[in-house]
Amino acid sequence: EPQGEAAHFERTVARDQRIEPRDWMPDAYRATMVRQIAQHAHSEIIGMQPEGAWITRAPSLRRKAILLAKVQDEAGHGLYLYSAAETLGADRSELTAKLISGRQKYSSIFNYPTLTFADVGVIGWLVDGAAICNQVPLCRSSYGPYARAMIRICKEESFHQRQGYELLMTLMRGTGAQREMVQDAVNRWWWPSLMMFGPPDADSTHTAQSMAWKIKRHTNDELRQRFVDMTVPQAEALGVTLPDPDLRWNAERGHHDFGEIDWSELKRVISGDGPCNAERVAVRRAAHEGGAWVREAAAAYAEKAR
Ligand code: ACO
Repeated sequence: EPQGEAAHFERTVARDQRIEPRDWMPDAYRATMVRQIAQHAHSEIIGMQPEGAWITRAPSLRRKAILLAKVQDEAGHGLYLYSAAETLGADRSELTAKLISGRQKYSSIFNYPTLTFADVGVIGWLVDGAAICNQVPLCRSSYGPYARAMIRICKEESFHQRQGYELLMTLMRGTGAQREMVQDAVNRWWWPSLMMFGPPDADSTHTAQSMAWKIKRHTNDELRQRFVDMTVPQAEALGVTLPDPDLRWNAERGHHDFGEIDWSELKRVISGDGPCNAERVAVRRAAHEGGAWVREAAAAYAEKAR
């Protein structure tokens, strides 16, 4: 058996065991993990904004309490993931600096506006549903701290998904105007939800290497297909139409066929030119600058205590 650090890394990955922070790893593996975990953390933190906008306008105390808890969970996921990035030697304040200067990405999905309260339900159902689809396999990701973080995050995401679906079922039992509000939200969020899974496999920069390292367990297109297959019966049960005339069951493939995604839209949104990119980053930057006095006070207190 080959000896040495590199051989140990290869063997650990081949045996489906976990790479831990103190283990040797290729520089490119470390860089990929920092990139993915940081993007994921940023997504959770930026992801608080679209729904947070509805906390003060929730239609009842019950809905407000649920939404508050959900948005707080997202903050928790973000902090949890920044900690995982720190185990790789990343510096949290540098990651934040990269986010607010546009040098690091976050998920395209959070650059769309939330126009009605039905959007809160549809984000839970579709966006968190897509997130679960993508993140459950990451519980078996080869980097230990990331894989373990995913276990708790996925449990909370499942609650988020259920609350969204329950909210939508309530609206669908309501008035005609409420049902129309749900359908309108579904029409706006369906295609961006499919884009969350990333570019098609043929155009995905990182998939092949990340699969070889068992960071990713499925390709972008595989997970997108799984999400479509899972969502179609849920849409039927809910009584909404998914806005895709080409969506139909393909018995031969054992999957649903679906229409062509507008990849130019994904490219535009990723490159910073989506409907809300500027606003999302500006709000995050203002929050960071507004929190400067807290960081200074905490540092002064720690200094005194020392
Ligand atoms: N939004 C923004 N950027 C994206 C998206 C997206 N939906 N999809 C892909 N990209 C970026 C990639 O980050 C990469 O850019 P980079 O090289 O500058 O880092 C580029 O587009 C090419 O994509 P891929 O090669 O396919 O990238 P990757 O292998 O990292 O796959 C994926 C992308 C599937 C999103 C992967 O990183 C992943 O599973 N991440 C963890 C989950 C996550 O971040 N979820 C956040 C949203 S869910 C939520 O928070 C509720």
